[in-house]
Amino acid sequence: MSGQNVWTHKGTFLLAAVGSAVGLGNLWRFPYLTGENGGGAFILVYALTIFAVGIPILIAEIMLGRTSRQSPIMGMRHLTRTHQTSRAWESIGWLGAASAFLILSFYSVVAGWSLHYTWQMLTGSLAGADAETIGAGFDSLLASPWLMTLYHTLFIILSALIVGMGIHKGIESGLRIIMPALFVILLVVLGYSIVNGDIGAAAEFLFTFSLADLSLEGWLQAMGQSFFTLSLGMGAIMAYGAYMPSDVSLTRTAFAVAFVDTAVALVAGLAIFALVFGAGLETGQGPGLMFVTIPLAFSEMPFGSLIGGVFFILVLGAAISSSISLIEPVAAFLVERFDRTRPQAVAIMTLGSWALGLLTVVSFNVWSEGTLFHTLFGRSAFDFIELLTNIFMPLGGLLIALFAGWALTQSEVAKELGGSPGWFSVWRFLVRFIAPAAVAFVFLRTLPQVDGYLLPAFGALTIVLAVAIGRSLLVKQPPAA
Ligand code: PHE
Repeated sequence: MSGQNVWTHKGTFLLAAVGSAVGLGNLWRFPYLTGENGGGAFILVYALTIFAVGIPILIAEIMLGRTSRQSPIMGMRHLTRTHQTSRAWESIGWLGAASAFLILSFYSVVAGWSLHYTWQMLTGSLAGADAETIGAGFDSLLASPWLMTLYHTLFIILSALIVGMGIHKGIESGLRIIMPALFVILLVVLGYSIVNGDIGAAAEFLFTFSLADLSLEGWLQAMGQSFFTLSLGMGAIMAYGAYMPSDVSLTRTAFAVAFVDTAVALVAGLAIFALVFGAGLETGQGPGLMFVTIPLAFSEMPFGSLIGGVFFILVLGAAISSSISLIEPVAAFLVERFDRTRPQAVAIMTLGSWALGLLTVVSFNVWSEGTLFHTLFGRSAFDFIELLTNIFMPLGGLLIALFAGWALTQSEVAKELGGSPGWFSVWRFLVRFIAPAAVAFVFLRTLPQVDGYLLPAFGALTIVLAVAIGRSLLVKQPPAA
Protein backbone atom coordinates (compact mmCIF):
# COMPACT_ATOMS: atom_id res chain seq x y z
CA MET A 1 0.00 0.00 0.00
CA SER A 2 1.34 3.41 -0.86
CA GLY A 3 1.99 5.96 1.83
CA GLN A 4 -0.54 8.41 0.47
CA ASN A 5 -3.39 6.29 1.76
CA VAL A 6 -2.82 7.34 5.36
CA TRP A 7 -4.59 10.24 7.04
CA THR A 8 -2.52 13.42 6.98
CA HIS A 9 -2.65 13.98 10.74
CA LYS A 10 -2.59 11.77 13.79
CA GLY A 11 -5.94 13.08 14.91
CA THR A 12 -7.74 12.65 11.60
CA PHE A 13 -8.96 9.15 12.29
CA LEU A 14 -10.59 10.40 15.48
CA LEU A 15 -12.20 13.24 13.55
CA ALA A 16 -13.43 10.90 10.83
CA ALA A 17 -14.68 8.23 13.22
CA VAL A 18 -16.52 10.81 15.30
CA GLY A 19 -17.95 12.20 12.07
CA SER A 20 -19.19 8.75 11.19
CA ALA A 21 -20.52 8.00 14.65
CA VAL A 22 -22.29 11.29 15.27
CA GLY A 23 -25.30 11.39 13.00
CA LEU A 24 -29.02 10.85 12.79
CA GLY A 25 -28.46 8.15 15.38
CA ASN A 26 -27.55 10.78 18.00
CA LEU A 27 -29.83 13.62 17.01
CA TRP A 28 -32.89 11.76 15.79
CA ARG A 29 -32.89 8.15 16.94
CA PHE A 30 -31.38 8.44 20.43
CA PRO A 31 -33.75 11.17 21.68
CA TYR A 32 -36.88 9.49 20.35
CA LEU A 33 -35.88 6.06 21.65
CA THR A 34 -35.11 7.58 25.05
CA GLY A 35 -38.44 9.39 24.95
CA GLU A 36 -40.32 6.21 24.10
CA ASN A 37 -38.51 4.10 26.66
CA GLY A 38 -38.87 6.21 29.74
CA GLY A 39 -35.62 8.19 29.91
CA GLY A 40 -32.93 7.38 32.49
CA ALA A 41 -33.24 3.62 32.61
CA PHE A 42 -32.79 3.44 28.85
CA ILE A 43 -29.69 5.61 29.05
CA LEU A 44 -28.17 3.44 31.73
CA VAL A 45 -28.43 0.27 29.64
CA TYR A 46 -27.21 2.17 26.62
CA ALA A 47 -24.12 3.36 28.50
CA LEU A 48 -23.40 -0.11 29.85
CA THR A 49 -23.61 -1.62 26.38
CA ILE A 50 -21.36 1.04 24.91
CA PHE A 51 -18.76 0.10 27.49
CA ALA A 52 -18.97 -3.67 27.58
CA VAL A 53 -19.81 -4.35 23.94
CA GLY A 54 -19.52 -1.25 21.79
CA ILE A 55 -16.00 -0.15 22.70
CA PRO A 56 -14.44 -3.64 22.50
CA ILE A 57 -15.96 -4.22 19.05
CA LEU A 58 -15.00 -0.71 17.99
CA ILE A 59 -11.40 -1.49 18.92
CA ALA A 60 -11.59 -4.80 17.05
CA GLU A 61 -13.00 -3.18 13.94
CA ILE A 62 -10.42 -0.39 13.84
CA MET A 63 -7.73 -3.01 14.31
CA LEU A 64 -8.98 -5.09 11.37
CA GLY A 65 -8.78 -2.03 9.16
CA ARG A 66 -5.40 -0.90 10.37
CA THR A 67 -3.63 -4.26 10.16
CA SER A 68 -4.99 -5.00 6.71
CA ARG A 69 -4.63 -1.47 5.32
CA GLN A 70 -7.27 -2.18 2.69
CA SER A 71 -10.98 -1.76 2.12
CA PRO A 72 -13.09 -4.10 4.27
CA ILE A 73 -13.65 -6.78 1.62
CA MET A 74 -10.07 -6.93 0.36
CA GLY A 75 -8.78 -6.39 3.88
CA MET A 76 -10.64 -9.37 5.26
CA ARG A 77 -9.38 -11.50 2.38
CA HIS A 78 -5.85 -10.41 3.23
CA LEU A 79 -6.27 -11.19 6.94
CA THR A 80 -7.71 -14.66 6.35
CA ARG A 81 -4.57 -15.42 4.35
CA THR A 82 -1.95 -13.92 6.63
CA HIS A 83 -3.52 -15.39 9.76
CA GLN A 84 -4.34 -18.68 8.05
CA THR A 85 -7.97 -18.73 9.02
CA SER A 86 -10.98 -20.03 7.15
CA ARG A 87 -11.95 -17.92 4.14
CA ALA A 88 -15.50 -17.85 5.46
CA TRP A 89 -14.47 -14.85 7.56
CA GLU A 90 -14.37 -12.82 4.36
CA SER A 91 -18.11 -12.60 4.86
CA ILE A 92 -17.39 -9.82 7.40
CA GLY A 93 -16.26 -7.62 4.54
CA TRP A 94 -19.18 -8.50 2.28
CA LEU A 95 -21.70 -8.12 5.04
CA GLY A 96 -20.27 -4.71 5.89
CA ALA A 97 -20.40 -3.55 2.28
CA ALA A 98 -23.96 -4.82 1.87
CA SER A 99 -25.08 -3.09 5.08
CA ALA A 100 -23.41 0.17 4.11
CA PHE A 101 -25.20 0.06 0.77
CA LEU A 102 -28.57 -0.67 2.40
CA ILE A 103 -28.23 1.89 5.18
CA LEU A 104 -27.12 4.67 2.85
CA SER A 105 -30.25 4.10 0.78
CA PHE A 106 -32.67 5.09 3.55
CA TYR A 107 -30.30 7.28 5.59
CA SER A 108 -30.17 9.62 2.62
CA VAL A 109 -33.96 9.78 2.40
CA VAL A 110 -34.36 10.68 6.08
CA ALA A 111 -31.46 13.13 5.91
CA GLY A 112 -33.25 14.65 2.93
CA TRP A 113 -36.14 15.54 5.23
CA SER A 114 -33.82 17.76 7.24
CA LEU A 115 -32.91 19.55 4.01
CA HIS A 116 -36.62 20.28 3.67
CA TYR A 117 -36.88 21.53 7.25
CA THR A 118 -33.75 23.66 7.03
CA TRP A 119 -35.37 25.42 4.12
CA GLN A 120 -38.76 25.72 5.80
CA MET A 121 -37.25 27.10 8.99
CA LEU A 122 -34.92 29.61 7.40
CA THR A 123 -37.66 30.97 5.15
CA GLY A 124 -39.85 31.38 8.22
CA SER A 125 -42.70 29.36 6.75
CA LEU A 126 -43.33 27.57 10.03
CA ALA A 127 -43.22 30.63 12.30
CA GLY A 128 -46.23 30.66 14.62
CA ALA A 129 -47.74 27.56 13.00
CA ASP A 130 -49.87 25.32 15.23
CA ALA A 131 -49.54 21.59 15.85
CA GLU A 132 -52.05 20.67 13.21
CA THR A 133 -50.37 22.72 10.49
CA ILE A 134 -46.92 21.35 11.28
CA GLY A 135 -48.17 17.78 11.48
CA ALA A 136 -49.97 18.21 8.17
CA GLY A 137 -46.78 19.67 6.67
CA PHE A 138 -44.80 16.56 7.58
CA ASP A 139 -47.56 14.34 6.23
CA SER A 140 -47.63 16.17 2.96
CA LEU A 141 -43.84 15.89 2.64
CA LEU A 142 -44.16 12.13 3.12
CA ALA A 143 -47.04 12.02 0.65
CA SER A 144 -44.96 13.53 -2.14
CA PRO A 145 -42.64 11.05 -3.87
CA TRP A 146 -41.25 13.83 -6.07
CA LEU A 147 -40.29 16.16 -3.26
CA MET A 148 -38.75 13.32 -1.26
CA THR A 149 -36.83 12.11 -4.30
CA LEU A 150 -35.55 15.61 -4.90
CA TYR A 151 -34.14 15.93 -1.35
CA HIS A 152 -32.82 12.38 -1.35
CA THR A 153 -31.01 13.10 -4.62
CA LEU A 154 -29.54 16.37 -3.42
CA PHE A 155 -28.29 14.83 -0.21
CA ILE A 156 -26.65 11.84 -1.84
CA ILE A 157 -24.98 14.00 -4.51
CA LEU A 158 -23.54 16.24 -1.81
CA SER A 159 -22.10 13.22 0.02
CA ALA A 160 -20.81 11.68 -3.21
CA LEU A 161 -18.99 14.88 -4.16
CA ILE A 162 -17.06 14.86 -0.89
CA VAL A 163 -16.00 11.21 -1.13
CA GLY A 164 -15.33 11.56 -4.85
CA MET A 165 -12.66 14.16 -4.15
CA GLY A 166 -10.63 11.58 -2.27
CA ILE A 167 -9.73 10.88 1.33
CA HIS A 168 -7.54 13.96 1.70
CA LYS A 169 -9.10 16.70 -0.42
CA GLY A 170 -12.62 15.41 0.10
CA ILE A 171 -13.15 13.58 3.36
CA GLU A 172 -10.39 15.11 5.52
CA SER A 173 -10.88 18.67 4.35
CA GLY A 174 -14.64 18.35 4.44
CA LEU A 175 -14.67 17.03 7.98
CA ARG A 176 -12.26 19.67 9.16
CA ILE A 177 -14.89 22.27 8.30
CA ILE A 178 -18.05 20.33 9.12
CA MET A 179 -17.14 18.90 12.52
CA PRO A 180 -16.05 22.05 14.39
CA ALA A 181 -19.08 23.84 12.93
CA LEU A 182 -21.31 21.08 14.27
CA PHE A 183 -19.94 21.43 17.79
CA VAL A 184 -20.42 25.19 17.74
CA ILE A 185 -24.00 24.80 16.50
CA LEU A 186 -24.74 22.16 19.09
CA LEU A 187 -23.62 24.54 21.84
CA VAL A 188 -25.66 27.39 20.36
CA VAL A 189 -28.75 25.18 20.30
CA LEU A 190 -28.05 24.03 23.86
CA GLY A 191 -27.68 27.64 25.01
CA TYR A 192 -30.89 28.58 23.27
CA SER A 193 -32.81 25.75 24.85
CA ILE A 194 -31.43 26.58 28.30
CA VAL A 195 -32.76 30.12 27.91
CA ASN A 196 -36.03 29.32 26.19
CA GLY A 197 -36.82 25.77 27.21
CA ASP A 198 -37.09 23.83 30.43
CA ILE A 199 -33.64 22.34 30.95
CA GLY A 200 -34.46 21.21 34.49
CA ALA A 201 -37.30 19.03 33.28
CA ALA A 202 -35.09 17.67 30.51
CA ALA A 203 -32.31 16.75 32.92
CA GLU A 204 -34.76 15.11 35.25
CA PHE A 205 -36.27 13.14 32.41
CA LEU A 206 -32.90 11.97 31.07
CA PHE A 207 -31.16 11.26 34.33
CA THR A 208 -33.86 10.00 36.65
CA PHE A 209 -33.42 6.30 36.72
CA SER A 210 -36.23 4.02 37.69
CA LEU A 211 -35.91 0.27 37.36
CA ALA A 212 -39.58 -0.12 36.66
CA ASP A 213 -39.12 1.67 33.34
CA LEU A 214 -36.63 -0.88 32.14
CA SER A 215 -38.69 -3.02 29.76
CA LEU A 216 -37.03 -5.86 27.89
CA GLU A 217 -37.87 -4.17 24.64
CA GLY A 218 -36.18 -0.98 25.83
CA TRP A 219 -33.14 -2.99 26.85
CA LEU A 220 -32.81 -4.52 23.43
CA GLN A 221 -33.38 -1.25 21.66
CA ALA A 222 -30.68 0.36 23.77
CA MET A 223 -28.23 -2.32 22.69
CA GLY A 224 -29.19 -2.02 19.04
CA GLN A 225 -28.81 1.73 19.28
CA SER A 226 -25.30 1.42 20.70
CA PHE A 227 -24.26 -0.46 17.55
CA PHE A 228 -25.91 1.95 15.19
CA THR A 229 -24.53 5.03 16.87
CA LEU A 230 -20.94 3.76 16.90
CA SER A 231 -21.24 2.82 13.20
CA LEU A 232 -20.23 -0.74 14.01
CA GLY A 233 -20.27 -3.73 11.70
CA MET A 234 -20.72 -1.78 8.49
CA GLY A 235 -17.22 -1.48 7.18
CA ALA A 236 -17.21 2.26 7.81
CA ILE A 237 -14.90 2.08 10.81
CA MET A 238 -12.75 -0.57 9.19
CA ALA A 239 -12.35 1.52 6.04
CA TYR A 240 -11.33 4.59 8.04
CA GLY A 241 -9.08 2.46 10.24
CA ALA A 242 -7.16 1.39 7.15
CA TYR A 243 -5.88 4.96 6.84
CA MET A 244 -4.92 5.30 10.52
CA PRO A 245 -1.22 5.82 11.21
CA SER A 246 0.37 2.90 13.09
CA ASP A 247 1.64 4.97 15.98
CA VAL A 248 -1.74 6.23 17.16
CA SER A 249 -3.19 4.43 20.20
CA LEU A 250 -6.10 2.28 19.14
CA THR A 251 -7.59 1.91 22.58
CA ARG A 252 -7.41 5.54 23.53
CA THR A 253 -8.90 6.57 20.20
CA ALA A 254 -11.78 4.12 20.53
CA PHE A 255 -12.61 5.43 24.00
CA ALA A 256 -12.48 8.99 22.70
CA VAL A 257 -14.85 8.19 19.83
CA ALA A 258 -17.34 6.52 22.18
CA PHE A 259 -17.06 9.36 24.68
CA VAL A 260 -17.65 12.15 22.17
CA ASP A 261 -20.44 10.21 20.50
CA THR A 262 -22.23 9.65 23.80
CA ALA A 263 -21.66 13.22 24.93
CA VAL A 264 -23.20 14.54 21.72
CA ALA A 265 -26.21 12.26 22.12
CA LEU A 266 -26.71 13.45 25.71
CA VAL A 267 -26.26 17.14 24.93
CA ALA A 268 -28.57 16.84 21.94
CA GLY A 269 -31.04 14.95 24.11
CA LEU A 270 -30.91 17.67 26.79
CA ALA A 271 -31.39 20.45 24.27
CA ILE A 272 -34.20 18.67 22.44
CA PHE A 273 -36.17 17.67 25.53
CA ALA A 274 -35.70 21.11 27.08
CA LEU A 275 -37.43 22.53 24.01
CA VAL A 276 -40.11 19.86 24.08
CA PHE A 277 -40.88 20.36 27.79
CA GLY A 278 -40.60 24.12 27.50
CA ALA A 279 -43.28 24.11 24.81
CA GLY A 280 -45.41 21.70 26.84
CA LEU A 281 -45.21 18.93 24.22
CA GLU A 282 -45.09 15.13 24.44
CA THR A 283 -41.80 13.18 24.61
CA GLY A 284 -42.91 9.82 23.24
CA GLN A 285 -43.56 10.89 19.67
CA GLY A 286 -41.35 8.30 18.02
CA PRO A 287 -39.63 9.16 14.73
CA GLY A 288 -41.81 12.27 14.40
CA LEU A 289 -40.06 13.82 17.41
CA MET A 290 -37.51 15.59 15.25
CA PHE A 291 -39.68 16.53 12.30
CA VAL A 292 -42.93 17.47 14.03
CA THR A 293 -42.35 18.13 17.72
CA ILE A 294 -39.11 20.08 17.31
CA PRO A 295 -40.36 22.40 14.53
CA LEU A 296 -43.44 22.96 16.67
CA ALA A 297 -41.34 23.87 19.72
CA PHE A 298 -39.28 26.30 17.64
CA SER A 299 -42.34 27.84 16.03
CA GLU A 300 -43.49 29.17 19.38
CA MET A 301 -40.15 30.54 20.59
CA PRO A 302 -38.28 33.81 19.99
CA PHE A 303 -35.97 33.65 16.94
CA GLY A 304 -37.34 30.15 16.48
CA SER A 305 -37.07 30.22 12.69
CA LEU A 306 -33.42 31.19 12.75
CA ILE A 307 -32.30 28.83 15.49
CA GLY A 308 -34.54 26.09 14.13
CA GLY A 309 -32.87 26.50 10.75
CA VAL A 310 -29.46 26.30 12.39
CA PHE A 311 -30.60 23.20 14.25
CA PHE A 312 -31.53 21.45 11.02
CA ILE A 313 -28.20 22.46 9.49
CA LEU A 314 -26.67 20.60 12.43
CA VAL A 315 -28.73 17.54 11.60
CA LEU A 316 -27.74 17.82 7.97
CA GLY A 317 -24.02 18.16 8.68
CA ALA A 318 -24.04 15.26 11.11
CA ALA A 319 -25.84 13.14 8.53
CA ILE A 320 -23.36 14.02 5.78
CA SER A 321 -20.33 13.21 7.90
CA SER A 322 -21.94 9.79 8.51
CA SER A 323 -23.08 9.10 4.97
CA ILE A 324 -19.61 9.68 3.56
CA SER A 325 -18.38 6.92 5.86
CA LEU A 326 -20.96 4.60 4.31
CA ILE A 327 -19.79 5.39 0.79
CA GLU A 328 -16.07 5.02 1.51
CA PRO A 329 -15.85 1.25 2.22
CA VAL A 330 -17.64 0.28 -0.99
CA ALA A 331 -15.95 2.92 -3.13
CA ALA A 332 -12.51 1.94 -1.84
CA PHE A 333 -13.29 -1.68 -2.69
CA LEU A 334 -14.27 -0.83 -6.27
CA VAL A 335 -11.05 1.13 -6.66
CA GLU A 336 -8.88 -1.66 -5.29
CA ARG A 337 -10.57 -4.61 -6.87
CA PHE A 338 -11.70 -3.32 -10.26
CA ASP A 339 -9.20 -0.55 -10.83
CA ARG A 340 -11.90 2.08 -11.07
CA THR A 341 -11.04 5.70 -10.64
CA ARG A 342 -12.37 7.06 -7.37
CA PRO A 343 -15.06 9.24 -8.99
CA GLN A 344 -16.27 6.23 -10.99
CA ALA A 345 -16.33 4.03 -7.90
CA VAL A 346 -18.23 6.62 -5.89
CA ALA A 347 -20.69 7.11 -8.74
CA ILE A 348 -21.39 3.38 -8.97
CA MET A 349 -21.94 3.03 -5.24
CA THR A 350 -24.12 6.09 -4.78
CA LEU A 351 -26.15 5.52 -7.94
CA GLY A 352 -27.01 2.01 -6.77
CA SER A 353 -27.85 3.15 -3.27
CA TRP A 354 -29.82 6.09 -4.63
CA ALA A 355 -31.94 3.78 -6.78
CA LEU A 356 -32.59 1.50 -3.83
CA GLY A 357 -33.53 4.57 -1.81
CA LEU A 358 -36.43 5.16 -4.18
CA LEU A 359 -38.03 2.10 -2.59
CA THR A 360 -37.89 3.89 0.75
CA VAL A 361 -39.35 7.01 -0.83
CA VAL A 362 -42.37 5.19 -2.24
CA SER A 363 -42.87 3.25 0.99
CA PHE A 364 -44.31 6.41 2.49
CA ASN A 365 -46.78 7.11 -0.30
CA VAL A 366 -47.57 5.21 -3.52
CA TRP A 367 -46.40 1.90 -2.09
CA SER A 368 -47.46 2.53 1.47
CA GLU A 369 -49.65 -0.54 1.55
CA GLY A 370 -51.39 -3.22 -0.43
CA THR A 371 -48.71 -3.73 -3.10
CA LEU A 372 -47.11 -6.98 -4.20
CA PHE A 373 -44.16 -6.11 -2.00
CA HIS A 374 -46.37 -6.08 1.09
CA THR A 375 -47.94 -9.36 0.13
CA LEU A 376 -44.55 -10.99 -0.33
CA PHE A 377 -42.69 -9.55 2.63
CA GLY A 378 -45.47 -8.46 4.96
CA ARG A 379 -44.15 -4.91 5.33
CA SER A 380 -43.16 -1.84 3.36
CA ALA A 381 -39.90 -1.81 1.44
CA PHE A 382 -38.47 0.70 3.91
CA ASP A 383 -39.34 -1.49 6.88
CA PHE A 384 -37.90 -4.46 5.04
CA ILE A 385 -34.59 -2.74 4.33
CA GLU A 386 -34.42 -1.51 7.91
CA LEU A 387 -35.11 -4.99 9.20
CA LEU A 388 -32.31 -6.37 7.02
CA THR A 389 -29.86 -3.84 8.42
CA ASN A 390 -31.08 -4.61 11.94
CA ILE A 391 -30.07 -8.19 11.28
CA PHE A 392 -26.82 -7.48 9.42
CA MET A 393 -25.54 -4.91 11.88
CA PRO A 394 -25.37 -7.07 15.02
CA LEU A 395 -24.33 -10.00 12.84
CA GLY A 396 -21.36 -8.03 11.51
CA GLY A 397 -20.47 -7.00 15.07
CA LEU A 398 -20.72 -10.58 16.29
CA LEU A 399 -18.47 -11.88 13.52
CA ILE A 400 -15.93 -9.11 14.09
CA ALA A 401 -15.79 -9.92 17.80
CA LEU A 402 -15.38 -13.64 17.18
CA PHE A 403 -12.84 -13.17 14.41
CA ALA A 404 -10.72 -10.78 16.47
CA GLY A 405 -11.02 -12.76 19.68
CA TRP A 406 -10.73 -16.32 18.43
CA ALA A 407 -9.55 -16.64 14.83
CA LEU A 408 -6.71 -14.14 14.57
CA THR A 409 -3.27 -14.99 15.87
CA GLN A 410 -3.48 -13.46 19.32
CA SER A 411 0.19 -12.48 19.66
CA GLU A 412 -0.17 -10.26 16.60
CA VAL A 413 -3.41 -8.81 17.86
CA ALA A 414 -1.71 -7.90 21.13
CA LYS A 415 1.06 -6.19 19.19
CA GLU A 416 -1.37 -4.18 17.09
CA LEU A 417 -3.45 -3.10 20.08
CA GLY A 418 -0.50 -2.04 22.22
CA GLY A 419 -1.19 -1.07 25.81
CA SER A 420 -0.68 -3.22 28.88
CA PRO A 421 -1.09 -7.02 28.99
CA GLY A 422 -3.77 -6.57 31.66
CA TRP A 423 -5.85 -4.38 29.41
CA PHE A 424 -5.36 -6.82 26.55
CA SER A 425 -6.83 -9.66 28.64
CA VAL A 426 -9.81 -7.52 29.59
CA TRP A 427 -10.44 -6.62 25.96
CA ARG A 428 -10.03 -10.20 24.84
CA PHE A 429 -12.45 -11.46 27.47
CA LEU A 430 -15.00 -8.90 26.32
CA VAL A 431 -14.74 -9.74 22.61
CA ARG A 432 -14.57 -13.47 23.20
CA PHE A 433 -17.48 -13.89 25.56
CA ILE A 434 -19.41 -10.80 26.61
CA ALA A 435 -19.86 -9.13 23.23
CA PRO A 436 -20.95 -12.30 21.40
CA ALA A 437 -23.44 -13.16 24.14
CA ALA A 438 -24.87 -9.66 24.14
CA VAL A 439 -25.10 -9.55 20.37
CA ALA A 440 -26.78 -12.92 20.17
CA PHE A 441 -29.36 -11.43 22.51
CA VAL A 442 -29.96 -8.42 20.26
CA PHE A 443 -30.14 -10.78 17.33
CA LEU A 444 -32.89 -12.77 18.99
CA ARG A 445 -34.89 -9.62 19.36
CA THR A 446 -35.35 -9.39 15.60
CA LEU A 447 -36.69 -12.94 15.49
CA PRO A 448 -40.31 -12.09 16.32
CA GLN A 449 -40.22 -9.58 13.46
CA VAL A 450 -39.21 -12.27 11.00
CA ASP A 451 -42.24 -13.94 9.51
CA GLY A 452 -43.82 -15.24 6.30
CA TYR A 453 -41.41 -15.78 3.44
CA LEU A 454 -38.54 -14.44 5.49
CA LEU A 455 -38.61 -17.16 8.09
CA PRO A 456 -37.08 -19.98 6.01
CA ALA A 457 -34.42 -17.61 4.65
CA PHE A 458 -33.58 -16.44 8.15
CA GLY A 459 -33.50 -19.98 9.48
CA ALA A 460 -31.19 -21.09 6.68
CA LEU A 461 -28.92 -18.10 7.25
CA THR A 462 -28.67 -18.90 10.96
CA ILE A 463 -27.77 -22.54 10.33
CA VAL A 464 -25.22 -21.75 7.61
CA LEU A 465 -23.66 -19.19 9.92
CA ALA A 466 -23.53 -21.43 12.94
CA VAL A 467 -21.87 -24.17 10.90
CA ALA A 468 -19.49 -21.75 9.20
CA ILE A 469 -18.49 -20.10 12.48
CA GLY A 470 -18.03 -23.44 14.17
CA ARG A 471 -15.89 -24.75 11.34
CA SER A 472 -13.80 -21.65 10.93
CA LEU A 473 -13.00 -21.52 14.61
CA LEU A 474 -11.84 -25.11 14.58
CA VAL A 475 -10.00 -25.23 11.28
CA LYS A 476 -6.71 -23.49 10.68
CA GLN A 477 -5.95 -23.28 6.98
CA PRO A 478 -2.58 -24.36 5.62
CA PRO A 479 -0.25 -21.38 5.12
CA ALA A 480 -0.76 -19.60 1.81
CA ALA A 481 1.81 -20.46 -0.84
N1 PHE B 1 -23.49 6.19 13.44
C1 PHE B 1 -24.35 6.87 12.51
C2 PHE B 1 -25.39 7.63 13.31
O1 PHE B 1 -25.42 7.58 14.49
C3 PHE B 1 -25.01 5.95 11.55
C4 PHE B 1 -24.06 5.13 10.79
C5 PHE B 1 -24.10 3.79 10.90
C6 PHE B 1 -23.08 5.71 9.99
C7 PHE B 1 -23.18 3.02 10.25
C8 PHE B 1 -22.17 4.95 9.33
C9 PHE B 1 -22.20 3.59 9.47
O2 PHE B 1 -26.20 8.29 12.71
